[in-house]
Amino acid sequence: MALKDDVLAALGKVLSPDGKPLPASGTLSEVLATDGKVFFSITVDAAEVKRWEPVREAAEAAVRATPGVTSALVALTGERAPGAGAGSAPPRRPQPAQPPAGARPQPGGQAAPTPAGIPGVAAIIAVASGKGGVGKSTTAVNLALGLRDLGLKVGILDADIYGPSMPKLLAIRERPQTIGGNRLRPIARHGMAVMSIGFLIEEETPMIWRGPMVMSAITQMLRDVEWGTLDVMVVDMPPGTGDAQLTMAQQVPLKGAVIVSTPQDLALIDARRGIAMFRRVNVPVLGIVENMSYFLCPHCGERSDIFGHGGARHEAERLDVPFLGEVPLDMEIRASSDAGLPVVAIAPDGEHAKIYRGIAERVRGGLAGASRPAPKIVIEA
Ligand SMILES: Nc1ncnc2c1ncn2[C@@H]1O[C@H](COP(=O)(O)OP(=O)(O)OP(=O)(O)O)[C@@H](O)[C@H]1O
Ligand SMILES: [Mg+2]
Repeated sequence: MALKDDVLAALGKVLSPDGKPLPASGTLSEVLATDGKVFFSITVDAAEVKRWEPVREAAEAAVRATPGVTSALVALTGERAPGAGAGSAPPRRPQPAQPPAGARPQPGGQAAPTPAGIPGVAAIIAVASGKGGVGKSTTAVNLALGLRDLGLKVGILDADIYGPSMPKLLAIRERPQTIGGNRLRPIARHGMAVMSIGFLIEEETPMIWRGPMVMSAITQMLRDVEWGTLDVMVVDMPPGTGDAQLTMAQQVPLKGAVIVSTPQDLALIDARRGIAMFRRVNVPVLGIVENMSYFLCPHCGERSDIFGHGGARHEAERLDVPFLGEVPLDMEIRASSDAGLPVVAIAPDGEHAKIYRGIAERVRGGLAGASRPAPKIVIEA
């Protein structure tokens, strides 16, 4: 705490372009100070970024000069004002008096404008669940490959800032190149464009990012990356239905969401929460995938319903969302993921690839219908 106070005191001597002490300028994120490492961001209107760069530098220098600080990283994020045209980021604090047309209702009763799309990207879908470890990332990457196999141009955005999966799942170790100084080229893998915060930071870097920083990282990965022309961008979401997910669902112009669940009751309760969250922000739920649905013994071929089977299908019927398919619990799926070679990429003619392509087909079908307004049902989780 003391270090944070010292840092804030030091920042008080750094002035904004308008002459205000930085902590009073309304641009600072929370200041994180742990073990002498200090990290925070300054968020300003995109048009103001140039004017603020010297402030960022001065802030970093002031923090570094503070006794007890071993390293300092100050990020400057430019957010474009509403209506600034294609590629503009959503406003930081949208507070319209009346919900504009197409506004998404928020749980608190406020309305956030539907975020601007990403130029060239026809549809963005989220792969989500209420719970961790149910196979979101595995599903996201194999679904993306399935969509690619249907002839679509596909991108993957790893939105799991705390625990990015794509470096491992796709064995990506290179860093994205910068274009023109401030844009990044996504990594190309298996014919898809891939971006993850994991490509930019070392694996050992502690994930101390919180709230606004998470959002600015996601916004940058969406808008400051040369995605090119994509039919579908698959977003691998972090687990949970907390604020980060809700904000994410509101900031990203999602066409739909795919919910992953295991058949267990517990996971299903979490899946229900996930569905409720997307419905609250008017993002159509494209359906539920039941992952680790059953186990086929590789030796005797006998099928075991380890977690009890079919729960997700019943749940989908009950909640009136499409059931997208069942993926078995299988060594090949786990081993290939761990090796960075997803099963649809290495065994495109196998049973698993067929299952994922089936899911991809249903998702594509759902997307075609997703331009209709989402039914306004709110279910209590
Ligand atoms: N159908 C499957 N068969 C076997 N193993 C699987 C299957 N699906 C996922 N796994 C394995 O389960 C583990 C968790 O999967 P994954 O990382 O995709 O989950 P997640 O929901 O994205 O987790 P997190 O919430 O941490 O992001 C991984 O080791 C993965 O290889
Ligand atoms: Mg994951």
